[in-house]
Amino acid sequence: MPTADRYDHSMQEMMARTGSFPLHVPYGLVRRFGRPGGVVLDPFCGKGTSILAARLLGRPAYGLDVAPEAVICSRAKLLATDVRAVESYIRRLPTDDGDCADVPDEVRIFFHPATLSQILSVRDALLHDVDLGRRATRSCATVALGLLLGILHGHASYSLSLPSSHAYSMSPQYVQRYSQEHGLTAPLRSVQECLLAKAARCFRDPLPPSVAGDVMEAPAAAVATAFPELTGRVDLVVTSPPYLAAQTYAKDNRLRLWLLNRSYPTIRAQYIQTQSIDRYRDLLTEAFAAIAKALRRSGKLVCIAGDVRHTTTSKGERRTDVIRTGDLLADICRSRQVGLRITHRSVHRVVGGRRYLNALANSNGHSQRDMVERVFVAER
Ligand SMILES: C[S@@+](CC[C@H](N)C(=O)[O-])C[C@H]1O[C@@H](n2cnc3c(N)ncnc32)[C@H](O)[C@@H]1O
Repeated sequence: MPTADRYDHSMQEMMARTGSFPLHVPYGLVRRFGRPGGVVLDPFCGKGTSILAARLLGRPAYGLDVAPEAVICSRAKLLATDVRAVESYIRRLPTDDGDCADVPDEVRIFFHPATLSQILSVRDALLHDVDLGRRATRSCATVALGLLLGILHGHASYSLSLPSSHAYSMSPQYVQRYSQEHGLTAPLRSVQECLLAKAARCFRDPLPPSVAGDVMEAPAAAVATAFPELTGRVDLVVTSPPYLAAQTYAKDNRLRLWLLNRSYPTIRAQYIQTQSIDRYRDLLTEAFAAIAKALRRSGKLVCIAGDVRHTTTSKGERRTDVIRTGDLLADICRSRQVGLRITHRSVHRVVGGRRYLNALANSNGHSQRDMVERVFVAER
């Protein structure tokens, strides 16, 4: 059986994204709490870490997320493609001049004009093939689109933008100012060569055979509509929902949303991202009530959530409390509306700088502060 560590720096890193699990976390949870061959569901699947863990362990894997870039990346992790098919597909992509006329300035700033025009022509071909191509073409296009999302911005030798973060879209003004101060210029790249380099890295460790499953772009609360066949059949849910408004997933992925031709304000409205604890409780109660119905009898749900700092202002006074999101979610799961039984709880401290979730510092990863994560297991 393949181990998780090998894939943390290959397939798992197709696209860096804030708030993602390291692969060994869901891998260990699926091994410990799931039954061999049991269906795994992550209703807030992000870039598909639980999906990949389930595949490595030979379990059917299903996921939901409202973020388009995350769904593409998660789907790519489920597909039965190999590096040779993907490479030959990438070599056939058109790289003639794409039309940059409609590209907004805040996007244009990140790219060399000749790189941008290749990005557009490759992007148009990929979006066409993802929707309309034959099955094998669709699979290769989905993987190639995941790879393109992964190299769109960053500071690797194959990143297409001005040097910037891999994990989130930095502010155009900041990137421009920093580049001017440090004499950096937007790189002229061959998009095809960069995609091939990223493909070689992602597929360095060949994946085990694909498993049954699918990933849908839909809210977690819509699991019964997205996957009616799963009602009462899921063996294990492994998930980490948003923590109030600690992460700004739509904003952090603005460049990727532009690439996918998706409208940021429309997408933004789909996310659970609120500073109101009451609203958060309502939204998560609705989601977990639906998720609980997908579980088989005695099926388990493992949830991980970091504590968050929450600031309120009353009568002109600002007050900051630490909200134990994990405890709040456990209370929701054992509420009458959801009806699960909590069987296990634990707390761990994730060391600043090495951690993967940055909610406590509310910082997108620059702070060195430690954070506290709470894990609970609930059973139907
Ligand atoms: C903490 S992250 C999970 C990351 C994931 N564990 C991974 O490894 O990539 C929470 C996810 O919830 C997603 N999300 C926000 N609102 C949602 C909703 N209403 N339904 C489903 N997913 C949602 C975000 O896009 C984000 O990917």
